Amino acid sequence: MDLKQYVTIVEDWPKPGIRFKDISTIMDNGTVYKYATDQIVEFAKEVGAEIIVGPEARGFIIGCPVAYALEIGFAPVRKEGKLPREVIREEYGLEYGKDVLTMHKDAIRPGQKVLIVDDLLATGGTVEASAKMVERLGGEVVGCAFLIELTYLDGRDKISQFPIKTLVSY
Ligand code: PRP
Repeated sequence: MDLKQYVTIVEDWPKPGIRFKDISTIMDNGTVYKYATDQIVEFAKEVGAEIIVGPEARGFIIGCPVAYALEIGFAPVRKEGKLPREVIREEYGLEYGKDVLTMHKDAIRPGQKVLIVDDLLATGGTVEASAKMVERLGGEVVGCAFLIELTYLDGRDKISQFPIKTLVSY
């Protein structure tokens, strides 16, 4: 299946000059959504993932069905002020902005094999911050998987030490 044809390019959103990759036109088609999820499920099996970590909000859309399919857990990475218990935090830079990401301190067990899943690899700031938190919690990042990669932003350079799977490239 050619997944790229189901991604909708939105010009000048959220800012002029940004060509936003809208994945809602993958999600609204059950067959396509399942196909995309299944690709990442296969990768998760290959790398031996024991838990999925996904950054809000679109990382949940891709990461949660992968965790469900494998009957493993899902740990959310959230923006500051969203998680109710004790957290660790990492600052990160975005393609358009800067922010702080957090995880619950007990989200990952020491030695647990973690696959980080998100919809998009752009600058790599989000996944890099997520990987740092997983490692600070004692987890082992066994891979990073994305629906879409913006190769011209070189985000994969920030996570080159991990196996990487991406399904659609621009
Ligand atoms: C987007 C996207 C990734 C991240 C990728 O999330 O869903 O998580 O940016 O960019 P990066 O590789 O440059 O870090 P965003 O922060 O816009 O949050 P959202 O999913 O809640 O809209």
